[in-house]
Amino acid sequence: MTRAAPAATNTRRVFFALWPDSQTRAHLETLSAQAHAEFGGRRMRAETLHMTLAFIGDIDAARVDLALATGDELGARPGFSMTIDRLRCWRHNRIVWCGPQRVPAALAETASQLGQHLSAAGFRLEARPFAAHATLLRNADCSRSAPDFVPFGWAVRQIVLVEASLASGGARYEIIGRWPLAE
Ligand code: 2AM
Repeated sequence: MTRAAPAATNTRRVFFALWPDSQTRAHLETLSAQAHAEFGGRRMRAETLHMTLAFIGDIDAARVDLALATGDELGARPGFSMTIDRLRCWRHNRIVWCGPQRVPAALAETASQLGQHLSAAGFRLEARPFAAHATLLRNADCSRSAPDFVPFGWAVRQIVLVEASLASGGARYEIIGRWPLAE
């Protein structure tokens, strides 16, 4: 895996995620535009679209290495694919998201193992169960119906640790660790 140079602040906000390749990102972006035409709200910027596996949140900068080591504990894993064929709006937080109707076992297992390793390393995670989703819109009007769309594949070839920081145009995400999956 590769590591980026540490940031200057003492607290860092990090999470494990699936980061789409350019082709999948383009599909997500198209779907985001279609969804926005119906649900309204605020579109997530194309370069930030992702699927969270485990949200760690704000941690002391000194513990980022521990989070990176947790990624190393995942060990060698095969890549997998999923079909993005669900588009939904969550009324409780007005998020429009897409995800797979059928969650691949490899995805659920990876999220669950990350959660276990992180807990064992002393990170306090939310108890809410893993929901395979990529947020497309915020502040959406959930009274609208989801438009039909052409399902597309998402080939997962790596897991990443992302650092979130606030920038002038919204959240800025930087990949600070990568774990490639086997071909
Ligand atoms: P969301 O898109 O469903 O809000 C970065 O914030 C990523 O971590 C987002 O994908 C977000 O999911 C996810 N996340 C999970 N739990 C979170 C929390 N408690 N606070 C902020 N983001 C969270």
